[in-house]
Amino acid sequence: MPEPLHQAMGFYGLVRSFRFEADVRDCEVYGHLPKELRGSYFRVGPDRAYPTLEGDTSINGDGMMSVFRFEDGGVDYRCRYVETERLRHERQARRRLYGKYRNEYTDDEQTTGTDRDNTANTHAFSHHGRLFALREDSFPTEIDPKTLQTLGTWNCGNRLKSKTMTAHPKVDPDTGEWWSCGVFAHKRYEGETTLQVIDRNGKLILEEEFMSPYPGISHDFAITKEHVIFPIMPLTVDMRRVKQGGDFYAYDPDLAPVYGIMPRGGSVSQIRWFKVPGALMAHVMNAYSEGHIVHLDAPIASGNSFRMFRDVSGHETDPAMGIPTISRLTFDLKSGEVSIKPFPGSIGEMPRCDERFTAKRYRYGFHKAREAIVRVDWQSGDRTVCALPHAPWGAQEPVFVPRAPDAPEGEGFVVCLVNIESENRAELLVLDAMKMDKGPVATVRLPFNQPGAFHGCFVSN
Ligand SMILES: [Fe+2]
Repeated sequence: MPEPLHQAMGFYGLVRSFRFEADVRDCEVYGHLPKELRGSYFRVGPDRAYPTLEGDTSINGDGMMSVFRFEDGGVDYRCRYVETERLRHERQARRRLYGKYRNEYTDDEQTTGTDRDNTANTHAFSHHGRLFALREDSFPTEIDPKTLQTLGTWNCGNRLKSKTMTAHPKVDPDTGEWWSCGVFAHKRYEGETTLQVIDRNGKLILEEEFMSPYPGISHDFAITKEHVIFPIMPLTVDMRRVKQGGDFYAYDPDLAPVYGIMPRGGSVSQIRWFKVPGALMAHVMNAYSEGHIVHLDAPIASGNSFRMFRDVSGHETDPAMGIPTISRLTFDLKSGEVSIKPFPGSIGEMPRCDERFTAKRYRYGFHKAREAIVRVDWQSGDRTVCALPHAPWGAQEPVFVPRAPDAPEGEGFVVCLVNIESENRAELLVLDAMKMDKGPVATVRLPFNQPGAFHGCFVSN
């Protein structure tokens, strides 16, 4: 098969690789950096170090971890590849060895028995003072937060029975617990899933296993103070297709999305499954419970929003049906009814919230849109928009940073990296979260474009 250069199809078009590791001391800053913004903004995303196979997706790229460090009135930037086992092997061979996304049958023979899936490219996540690069089909990879040096994979001191941990854990702001799930936990691809809870010190305190109704994609999950929610989406794994060199996932329009809900203090044997046709999601903004009512806020699409994957017949899916709108899914655990209420006008993805309110009733959410970074106010129904007309789809994930640990909800800053492709450069915007429509209070300029990172975190000093 021909090997295109270091690029692949991403969410919004062709994604070119960056391929160099960089340090920029004292980045150019325009405007005024808020004195309260002190710490490190970590991000990780896919960046193919070697060419990949035709038809592969950008989510198969090698993890590139970057950091903007806000210190002493200045900002320093650094990025480094996550030195995964697969990247080490490819560097040794000086060529591509691994094939398509989660398809070992497209690999070179010499890779047999190596950790071929873990590209560590999905979420820069901090917990109990440690920094991890997460990837949903693998163990977390620990990274030195000062140097970005790769320290190795981490699996709760070898206590974890699962082989996978989600790239979208939830941290309870009161207990500090790291709630996680392991999808295809034993890599049998039959729907075997685990619930995992790690305490604030990094000790595994719960691991329970269940089977999902079908072997579907489950990219994110949610907790409330009273419940745990497992979304299973109708992009399924069929190992016959995979063994023939096909895609790992394919969209099955005959299946409905299902949402499993269990009491948080209970057991996975108590999961109730709700079929919700036309409610397909990738990411969670937040969730909370009010007695027997459970709210889950997420970008919801009526069809396949994982457009890098075709349908089970091998056809591309309808792009219009894959466009997500921020919506509230409400589950009534007594009546069994489910409602979907879109937030008017809020088409977009990469949702976040003020994570001091994770799992609780909350007011503000943030997301990217086609030409904007948006704040939604669930209380008033208002949207506040920071327009980016020069950078369609150029905004990456917006991350909220509180002004102070005890500041009221939503008082603080939103940091968001924006690519300006026409000028081959990138800007990190710092917005006042309460005045997003006024534009950035500060802009940190990088003299090069950035590969599209997925998810990150801000660790305050
Ligand atoms: Fe994600």
